[in-house]
Formats: sequence, structure tokens, C-alpha cells
Amino acid sequence: MQKEDVSLHGFLPSFQHFATQAIHVGQEPEQWNSQALVPPISMSTTFKQGAPGQHSGFEYSRSGNPTRNCLEKAVAALDGAKYSLAFASGLAATVTITHLLKAGDQIICMDDVYGGTNRYFRQVATKFGLKVSFVDCSETKLLEAAITPETKLVWVETPTNPILKIIDIEACAHIVHKHGDIILVVDNTFMSAYFQRPLSLGADICMYSATKYMNGHSDVVMGLVSVNSENLHNRLRFLQNSLGAVPSPLDCYLCNRGLKTLHVRMDKHFENGMAAAQFLESNPRVEKVVYPGLPSHPQHELAKRQCTGCPGMVAFYIKGTLQHAETFLKNLKIFTLAESLGGYESLAELPAIMTHASVPESDRDVLGISNTLIRLSVGLEDKKDLLEDLDQALKAAHPPSHN
Ligand SMILES: Cc1ncc(COP(=O)(O)O)c(C=O)c1O
Repeated sequence: MQKEDVSLHGFLPSFQHFATQAIHVGQEPEQWNSQALVPPISMSTTFKQGAPGQHSGFEYSRSGNPTRNCLEKAVAALDGAKYSLAFASGLAATVTITHLLKAGDQIICMDDVYGGTNRYFRQVATKFGLKVSFVDCSETKLLEAAITPETKLVWVETPTNPILKIIDIEACAHIVHKHGDIILVVDNTFMSAYFQRPLSLGADICMYSATKYMNGHSDVVMGLVSVNSENLHNRLRFLQNSLGAVPSPLDCYLCNRGLKTLHVRMDKHFENGMAAAQFLESNPRVEKVVYPGLPSHPQHELAKRQCTGCPGMVAFYIKGTLQHAETFLKNLKIFTLAESLGGYESLAELPAIMTHASVPESDRDVLGISNTLIRLSVGLEDKKDLLEDLDQALKAAHPPSHN
């Protein structure tokens, strides 16, 4: 299916020039003496200076590296941003952003976020005097009610992980910015730069676990951050160097390469994700499917207004109990039972026991992260093979009755 067909699902058209920018911005051969088309992996930790303090733009690889520079320029273009910064992991990006705050400041975090973000805010950031409130920001009234004079950061993820709730970024930005100097961060990991541009919707910071779709090949752990404000950029650049959680040049090379096919991969993730969601929704062994691309999703209309498509993330409740969920997962043959998401290969997991085990059980209950909730990261394999795999594993969990 081509993008033209996919757009029939009613999503916004793709961002103009996206593929051209993904392939060319920051990659200019003229920047290298060799005129290399593919940016070299610049492993040097240090760079020769002409005279003390006079350098060619690079001094020491933590503060700046030529390969990282190519990646950061490409990401900025794809996010429609002025600046982008790369970090050693998504969580390293989160930690660095959090260092914009000081003791006593309050963070409002969407209640349904990646388990590691929840754990960092709850168990680490609070040790350094930050206050953290978890709020359902999909209800903008709840967000507004939670804002206090101490609020300095609002953190949302959309769609949320793993329940795939959609947050209205524009509405959140409107509320947050009414209350003064609060930074709105959108974790854009699930959508990638191809399907959603948080900065153009009013967010101050767009961040990624680039470990997922942005790199897309399950071989790099990395974080990315994009901003438009020069002030925020300068402060984050200072923290990137001061905290030192930078990615290796090899990882920058790989992620930069992954970006070249982001648009092609995401179109296919959408096609396969939609097919899996439709198949599961019509299956009698399935209780409920959650996929923002389906009209049955409560915020389907918002998703269509805000995004140019949907990734391969599909959540569903299998009928029965934990045992049925486990039997389903153990019987999958093409989907691999593993954490993470956003790579070319299809993965399946049980959030309550795997990615979201660190979220307190009472919170999981409220969020709907039950023992029968299964999260799929639908990859790029043949659609027919994937649907057959889901079908046979569902039948293993709920064998057809033999009358
Ligand atoms: C939505 C989201 N944000 C942030 C992270 C953390 O990123 P990383 O694992 O690259 O540190 C993850 C990891 O799974 C994630 O899924």
C-alpha cells in the first residue's frame, strides 16, 4: 500500500520535503575533505587546534563530534526544529531535560508513560528535591487543575505507552503556556518525526527514545531532543556537555543511516499495524483492540487532526486470564516475545509483567494495564505471515471447541 492509500484513513498528509530532508540535510559531502557521500564515523576523541583556543568547530568529542553533528542536523530538519541534540539513551535525554529544573520545582507527568520514565521521576528525581505529580493529561481540565506556581515542566507522551491514549498537544500547550514559564515536553518516540511534529503544535521540547523508530533497526540505544528556542538550546547544550550522557560516534552513524529510510519504514509499519489491528478487532478470541488508526479508538478524530499516520504499536486485551495471554505469547512464531519496539522485526510483550512492572500495581489497575493486555510492535515482515501468526497463537490460547 502506498502513502496515498494510507491517507485514505483520513490522517493529515505527510510533511513536505520529509524524505528529501531525511536523505540530504546535514549530509553535505562538501563538509569533508574526502567529499564522502556517507558521513565518516569520526572516532577521534580530540581535535587539533591551530593555536590555543582556536579550533575548527570541534575540540573534544563529548562537547561536539562531526558524526553526531550530521545526525543532529538531520533530526532538527525532520522535526521542523532549529536545533537537535543527541544523547546516550532516551532516558539520558530525559535526565538531561530534567536538569533544567531545580530542587522544589514540580513536574507534572502524564499518568500513562513509559515505565522507565515513571520510575526515574518517581524514584530518582524526587530524591533530588523535585516534586512529581502524575496526571491524566488527556483530560486538559485535570492538567490545568494540577498546575501550581512551582510547576516548571509538563511531560506528556502521545500516544501513551502502552494504552495508546492520544494527548491533544495543542490544547496542552495552550494551558501550559497560559501559566507562565512552564516547559512542555512531548515524548514523540511512538510516532517518530514522520507522523507527528510536536514543536509545530506548541510543545517546547520534542524528545525521542531513538532506540525505537527513529533508528529503527534495534541495534542502537539513543535519545534525541529537538527545540526551537535558542535559550533552551543553549541550556541543553551546556547540560549535554556537563552531564556527559552523549552517544558514541558509531551509534550516531547508525542512527543517521536509519533516518534515511524512516519514511519508507513508517508507511509500512502503518500498513501492517492497521492490518493487525483490524484482524484482531474482528477476532472472537479478542476482548478489545486499542489502535488510534481504528474508528473505534476514542480519540481517533484527534489522532487524524494531529498526526500524519499511526505506527505499528497495537494494544489488545485477549479474552480470558493471564494464562491465556501467556499461552498466546509463547506460541507466537514470527512475533518475538521481547521488550522494546519500533524495529523492523515484530515484537510482542505483556506490559504488566515486562515493560511496566515497575509501575505500582494500583496505578496499573487504574490505567488498564491488566494481565490480559498485550502490546504488539508490528514490524515490516509480510502482512499475511503476521496475521497468520496472530491467528495460530490466538487459537493456541483458546483452542477451537471440537463438537
Ligand atoms: C516512549 C519511551 N520513552 C522513553 C524510553 C526510554 O528510552 P531508552 O530505552 O532509549 O533509554 C522508552 C523506552 O522504551 C520509551 O518507550
